[in-house]
Amino acid sequence: MADNSSNQMWGGRFAAGPDAIMEAINASIGFDKRMAAQDIAGSKAHAAMLAATGIITDSDAAAMKEGLDNVLGEIESGAFRFSAALEDIHMNVEARLKEVIGEPAGRLHTGRSRNDQVATDFKLWVRDQLDAAEGALLALMRALVAQAEAGADWVMPGFTHLQVAQPVTWGHHMMAYVEMFARDLSRIRDARTRMNECPLGAAALAGTSFPIDRDMTARSLGFDRPSANSLDAVSDRDFALEFLGAASICAVHLSRMAEELVIWSSAQFRFVTLSDRFSTGSSIMPQKKNPDAAELIRAKIGRIFGANVALTLVMKGLPLAYSKDMQEDKEQVFDAADNLMLALAAMEGMVRDMSANRDVLEAGAATGFSTATDLADWLVRVLGMPFREAHHVTGSLVALAEERECDLPDLTLVDMQGVHDAITADVFDVLGVHNSVASRTSYGGTAPVQVRAQVVRWKEALA
Ligand code: ARG
Repeated sequence: MADNSSNQMWGGRFAAGPDAIMEAINASIGFDKRMAAQDIAGSKAHAAMLAATGIITDSDAAAMKEGLDNVLGEIESGAFRFSAALEDIHMNVEARLKEVIGEPAGRLHTGRSRNDQVATDFKLWVRDQLDAAEGALLALMRALVAQAEAGADWVMPGFTHLQVAQPVTWGHHMMAYVEMFARDLSRIRDARTRMNECPLGAAALAGTSFPIDRDMTARSLGFDRPSANSLDAVSDRDFALEFLGAASICAVHLSRMAEELVIWSSAQFRFVTLSDRFSTGSSIMPQKKNPDAAELIRAKIGRIFGANVALTLVMKGLPLAYSKDMQEDKEQVFDAADNLMLALAAMEGMVRDMSANRDVLEAGAATGFSTATDLADWLVRVLGMPFREAHHVTGSLVALAEERECDLPDLTLVDMQGVHDAITADVFDVLGVHNSVASRTSYGGTAPVQVRAQVVRWKEALA
């Protein structure tokens, strides 16, 4: 027997326990206890397989199952006492199982290692997050589609360089985010498909001489198959990197949308009014209503992409197979996942609650000579002008309007004919913002008819 001061899980060859600093740098229990449910699920699957293959007795497996359920109950109720001396969740659970069921607990670790155990637990945890992210993205997309449906034909300025470019519809702008979040969703689903191979049974790195059934454990934990190379199985953290990659891109999208909400809710824009439920006040300026949630969502990319960079650098240059460096994977992923879920939920709430100020949007749509392209297109279509010439003529008309300090529709026909004598009164039809958006019926264009078609398509897909 090892002496009391050495580790009961691996202390056989040790005469003394670890230095306090060693324990502090080594222990992961402070954070990996979040994987308790996954750890216990993995152990139950492993125990059942050990019995099914005759490696342990049915009665030992039954004791393990009952004991593991009890341990999970203790953890869930908060009664469990986690120990840093036992390093991590794997050894904390096993040590407690020993206290609860005695000797059979010692057989649970047959044919496995903490290396395949942690890879399995962590995969299960990340997989749960992918599923949660999928649900959160779907909810956010539904909220955006509802906004788009309500305002499919509301006009607003469309921007390039944040300068008014052409009128677009509110519905079109909302649906642009639906497309972005749909790609995020597809990345999440894609990552889930690729990651769904079970590392359990890879053991420390080389597999095991016990006649284990890896298909059985893989199946019972909801994996598609066991991973095919034991060295890869214990040292792969791509699944976490893919999650962080997909989360980072999603956080970029959230950040862009959040930025628009910050701008749009300002007194200068007033495009939208955010609900009180998703706004905050100022402790000194009584009139203030601040878009804090949007600002925080805008910022979340910092920590999420930070986690992506951090884990990429942890993994870079690691030789096969397991190295303790990989224990640095979890806190990054936990933090990124928590913040992604929070940001998605907050964005969904804001989108659901916000009201677009239709009149302000419409007034804005007509500013900045936003229908100049429609005018140029009219010159091409009706007068048969080459587009480059039409562009030039329109430019002169814009300059004239600027000089007169008016908008394009405020120019007189005489003014227009002064620039090009073939222009007729019909031109005024295309200068209105509603006609402008209604004319953009090309597939994926901003015309209400196109927006409504996309809304129908997405409502069906999201039903
Ligand atoms: N706490 C460890 C981790 O998170 C578990 C695996 C430890 N394996 C080992 N051979 N020390 O990576």
